[in-house]
Amino acid sequence: MSIIMLQHLVLAVSCIGAVVAAPTAQTIAGPFDCIPAGSFTLCQNLWGRASGVGNQNSTLISTASGVSWSTAYTWANRPNNVKSYANVESTIAKGVQLQNVKSAPTTWDWHYDTQSSGIRADVAYDIWTGVPSSGTPASSASSFEIMIWLSGKGGIQPVGSQIQSNVNVAGHTWNLWRGPNSNWQVLSFVSTTGDITNFNVDLNDFFKYIIDNQGVAPTQFVQSIQAGTEPFVGQANLITDSYNVAINH
Ligand SMILES: *[C@@H]1O[C@H](CO)[C@@H](O)[C@H](O)[C@H]1NC(C)=O
Repeated sequence: MSIIMLQHLVLAVSCIGAVVAAPTAQTIAGPFDCIPAGSFTLCQNLWGRASGVGNQNSTLISTASGVSWSTAYTWANRPNNVKSYANVESTIAKGVQLQNVKSAPTTWDWHYDTQSSGIRADVAYDIWTGVPSSGTPASSASSFEIMIWLSGKGGIQPVGSQIQSNVNVAGHTWNLWRGPNSNWQVLSFVSTTGDITNFNVDLNDFFKYIIDNQGVAPTQFVQSIQAGTEPFVGQANLITDSYNVAINH
């Protein structure tokens, strides 16, 4: 190959590189920092940090298709206490009554880039419903908190007690936990088959299940859909390769 041809090749490659260059990843490290992330908000949410010692940061990787982000943390002490819930919250998939949801498709592909031995952490949705059409998660407007645990490492348990085992919802098998927290009820679906790292379901299957089996009023509004991780103790870097959610009504 001639030198001139090689130069052309290099030029062509560098032009392509410039076109597809990804925006610089943004990292947040403050306890309650949040940043816009396409049709989501990425938040650190170190609400339980006082029960331990450690630090955490979260990085927005991409909003090209849904959202891609990561959370790195190191937490010690009080192994039964949640330290934080780094999460992405949809700014658009909300404000719909359960009975008016036609479908709520979601996909979540994730993996641990690194993880220490003995880690205690979940990877979970946190879906909030209530009587008013809008409301802040974990507030006086909250009636139900619906968690879907795609992972629970180190023997951690959800709020309340297990009330059902091996229920099939949305093509997966779950143990269902229920209990009160402040002024709302927590319903937690915990995977019985270990980590579900490529999740692709219709959340409406969960909504129908809790209406039919757990006495949740169909008039409840979806106030918030969050997806994230609750570390108790350990060190990890959790990467969400892609996540998305929508409500069709
Ligand atoms: C992010 O947190 C990890 C885990 O605690 C830590 O090792 C790393 O230095 C932190 N990075 C930044 C930029 O704060």
